[in-house]
Amino acid sequence: MTINTEPVDELIEVPAGLRHVIAAETRLGDVRGREGFYHYRQYSAIDLATGRTFEEVWFLMLEGRLPTPGELAEFTGTIAGLRDLPAELLPVLTAAATAGTRFRPMAGLRTALSMLAETLELQPLWDSGPTARSRDALRICAVTPTILAALHRLHQGLEPVAPQPELSTTANWLYMISGELPKPAAVRAIEQYLIATIDHGFNASTFTARVVASTGADIAAALIAAIGAFTGPLHGGAPDRALDGLDEIGTPDRIDDWVRDKISRGDRIMGFGHPVYRTDDPRSLLLRDIATEIGGPLVDFATTVERRVVELLAELKPGRTLYANVEFYAGVVMELSGIPRSMFTPTFAVSRTVGWTANILEQAESGKIIRPAARYVGPPAPEPLPH
Ligand SMILES: CC(C)(COP(=O)(O)OP(=O)(O)OC[C@H]1O[C@@H](n2cnc3c(N)ncnc32)[C@H](O)[C@@H]1OP(=O)(O)O)[C@@H](O)C(=O)NCCC(=O)NCCS
Repeated sequence: MTINTEPVDELIEVPAGLRHVIAAETRLGDVRGREGFYHYRQYSAIDLATGRTFEEVWFLMLEGRLPTPGELAEFTGTIAGLRDLPAELLPVLTAAATAGTRFRPMAGLRTALSMLAETLELQPLWDSGPTARSRDALRICAVTPTILAALHRLHQGLEPVAPQPELSTTANWLYMISGELPKPAAVRAIEQYLIATIDHGFNASTFTARVVASTGADIAAALIAAIGAFTGPLHGGAPDRALDGLDEIGTPDRIDDWVRDKISRGDRIMGFGHPVYRTDDPRSLLLRDIATEIGGPLVDFATTVERRVVELLAELKPGRTLYANVEFYAGVVMELSGIPRSMFTPTFAVSRTVGWTANILEQAESGKIIRPAARYVGPPAPEPLPH
C-alpha cells in the first residue's frame, strides 16, 4: 500500500504564538498596539471607562450600541435579578473554598461553573438559539461575582453576603467581599478598572473561549476553559504578583538591585511588558491616573518604581519596548480600594466574564470550528514497531 504523506490541505506557516495571525472576524473591538489604543465596538474603551457605567458598557458589548435610559434601567434590573446563588452551589463552594492549604478562588470559580451548568441545565451552543444563549450568558455573568465573593467569605469561615439588588455591579461586588457598603470613591475607581478590562482583543483566554465555543459546547465549558488560560501569571494572574514585587522592593534605593537580580536570573518583572503594546498600555495610564487621584505613599512608591523599572528594562533588554501593563497599577488601585490581594485576579474576572461571553456569543453565530495545524518535528514516521 502506498501511503500518501502529503497534507490534506496546503499548510500555511505562521509565526510562533500565532502573533499577528488573524483567526476570526469580530465586531466587538480591537487593540492597536503601536498607537496604544483599544476600543469596544466603535468607542474608545478609555472614554467608556471614564464616562460611562459598567452596566452601560456591558449592554454595549452585547447589543452593539449604548442603551437608552429606559433600556439601561431594564438591563440593570434584569442583571440584579440574576445575581442570586442557586442553593445547589453552596456545598460546592464550601468544599472549594476550604480544599487544600492555598486559597485559589479562580479554581473555585471553575468548579462552581461546572455545577452551575448542570443546575441551569445549559444546552450546548450548537443546540440553542440566540435568545437562549444570551439569557444563559447574562445569568452566568451576573452570578459570577456572587460565586467569587462567596468563595472568599467561606474561605475566611464567614457566611457569604447575599447580593443587594439596588447596588450597581461594582458596589455590589465590593459589598459582597467585605460585607460593608463601599465608599463611592472606591466604587468609581474599581468601576473604571472593570470597564477598562472587559475585553482586549484576541488574548489567550478570549481565544480559548472562542475555540471551545466554536465546537458548539455550552457557555460554561467555554468560560471554564477561558478561566484556565486566564489564571496563568503571563496573562491575568499577575496583579497580585506585581504588588508582591513592590513589597519585595520595599524602598526606592533597592529598585536597581532587585530588578538587575531578577533579570540576571532570567525572571520577568511582573506588571511590565505586553504582547501587543509597543508603547504605553492605555489601561496602565488610566489606572495610574486613578491611583494618583487616590494618592498616598503606595502610589508615590509605585510611580517611582514604574519609572525606574522602565529605564532598567530599556538598558537590560535592549531593542524591546517594555512598559507597565494593566496589572501594575491595577494591583495598586485594588489595594487602595480595600480589595484583598487574593481577590485581585477574581476582580479582573468579574469584568472579563462579560467580554468572554460577548466573544462566545459572537463565535457561536459563525458555526465554524477553529482547527489549526501543528508542524510535526519528531522522528520520521511510520517507523516499524519494535519487536
Ligand atoms: C506579557 C508578556 C507575557 C508578553 O510576552 P511577549 O509577548 O513574549 O513579550 P515581547 O515579545 O514583547 O518580549 C519578549 C522579550 O522581552 C522580555 N520581557 C518581556 N516582558 C518582560 C518582563 N516583564 N520582564 C523582563 N523581561 C521581559 C522577554 O524575556 C523577551 O526577551 P527574550 O526574547 O530575550 O527572552 C511578558 O511581557 C511578561 O511575561 N510580562 C510579565 C507578566 C505580566 O505582567 N503579565 C500580565 C500581562 S497583561
